[in-house]
Amino acid sequence: MRRLAVLTSGGDAPGMNAAVRAVVRVGIANGLDVFGVRNGFSGLMSGDFVSLGARDVGGIIDRGGTFLGSTRCAQMRTEAGQQNAISRMHDLEMDGLVVIGGNGSQAASIALSRRGIPVVGIASTIDNDLAGADITIGATTAIETAVEAIDRLRVTASSHRRAFLVEVMGRHCGYLALMAGIAGGAEAIVIPEAEIDPQALADELQDAQRRGKKHAIVVVAEGAANNAAALASYFAEHESRVGFELRVTKLGHVQRGGPPCAYDRTIATLLGAAAAESFAAREHGMLLGIVAGKVARSPLIIALEEKPLDLSLLQLANVLAR
Ligand code: F6P
Repeated sequence: MRRLAVLTSGGDAPGMNAAVRAVVRVGIANGLDVFGVRNGFSGLMSGDFVSLGARDVGGIIDRGGTFLGSTRCAQMRTEAGQQNAISRMHDLEMDGLVVIGGNGSQAASIALSRRGIPVVGIASTIDNDLAGADITIGATTAIETAVEAIDRLRVTASSHRRAFLVEVMGRHCGYLALMAGIAGGAEAIVIPEAEIDPQALADELQDAQRRGKKHAIVVVAEGAANNAAALASYFAEHESRVGFELRVTKLGHVQRGGPPCAYDRTIATLLGAAAAESFAAREHGMLLGIVAGKVARSPLIIALEEKPLDLSLLQLANVLAR
């Protein structure tokens, strides 16, 4: 029987458990022996594998995080670390590996694949910054979480006639901020792909106040040069020019936790199933992602490409903020 290992790696994303469940159950249905690797690539190197049957992945489709555990494994960026991982795969007689994670994790997939390990990657990160996927596992839930927070903040902002800087995750990518800003009806959105001068933002807020707005929500991507802390310190120095009293909320890891929404569970399930089916069909060296609503198979190397952001959405958000 061919043996397939599955791991989750990098920042956890809501939906990872649903993906593992699908890999296991569809793998078994295709005659594979499936093993979970605990704690990502660190567990791969230390040989921390566990046999997974259909019952072992019961009751997890609705759970955020990853029951297998995850790590950011710096060793996988080194030749020695990669050789170590390959040796473990051979020692434990694994025939292939499914890697559920974002671009750092898929860079490790590429390294293993180049050295002859059959790897299938699944695009999963709340940042949605992975080429080869229109939308990655976890991003939709993270947006929902951010929007729920924004809705609550707008209520109190309005009561007190305040502006809120709401910082969201995304690393170097403004996708989460842009989508949360649009869905949350933000007065302004600050993203790394379209940096804004703090004074121009202050003028915008003052203008919003003059137009009769009782609140201003500014969604700020953590990766922007002018992140929430930088903007807050600028505004503290020039308070009279902002027009609103200011507060800052950093959502941080709140966006990574919580149960996956139905869409994330669904795409995770489709991608996990496709990964197991691909391996059973002896197809590997690819990244699976959702493109145009369907599972797409791209060469793994696509994970190293830049994924552009649709900046016309930012222009639209600015018009909608009137
Ligand atoms: O890549 C996902 C992500 O949540 C980013 O948005 C964020 O910058 C980073 O991970 C935080 O990483 P950590 O959990 O290691 O602090």
